[in-house]
Amino acid sequence: MLKPKRVLVTRDQIRDKVKEMARAIDAAHQGDELVLVGVLKGGIVLMADLMRELRLPVRLDFIAAESYGASTETSGVVKLTRDVTTDLRGRHVLLVEDIVDTGLTIRYLISHLKGKDPASLEVAVLLDKVSRRKVPVDVRYRGLVIPDAFVVGYGLDYAEHYRNLPDVMVVEEDGT
Ligand code: IMP
Repeated sequence: MLKPKRVLVTRDQIRDKVKEMARAIDAAHQGDELVLVGVLKGGIVLMADLMRELRLPVRLDFIAAESYGASTETSGVVKLTRDVTTDLRGRHVLLVEDIVDTGLTIRYLISHLKGKDPASLEVAVLLDKVSRRKVPVDVRYRGLVIPDAFVVGYGLDYAEHYRNLPDVMVVEEDGT
């Protein structure tokens, strides 16, 4: 049984990184209204924190894709399970995601949303497992690069557990 065993990123570190990301987004988009597209389910915690740090006007929407099932390894096959309802044509769009691992999910979502003809499309993620990348993705706003470990908390789950933990924790085999 895998359980959260140690804190990898504290809530204070996360708060500082979210603020930094918000300042960079504000600076890059002066005069724009942004459509924040949160990737369900894990992206909602970053979405909620990031939107309150932004000074730009924002609209919200959500999108969902599936690839994992109840395991810690991606199946490699990504499928859209919820699309946005906002008309994105000519709008500035920011995809808000908890983590990029192989890059397959975000690459799929980028290509899907590009088809809706936005004025711009950028990606903000809290955590990036750069060493696990299988396909290149342009992550414009990144909180932290983390090592190859399975993490939970701050929206991230293991088989739908632990999304509500305020810190990011590494899951390990429960030997106790
Ligand atoms: P990718 O398609 O391999 O980049 O994986 C992206 C998705 O896999 C994320 O949106 C998460 O839902 C999930 N994921 C990847 N790594 C982790 C992790 O360490 N903990 C929890 N979920 C993860």
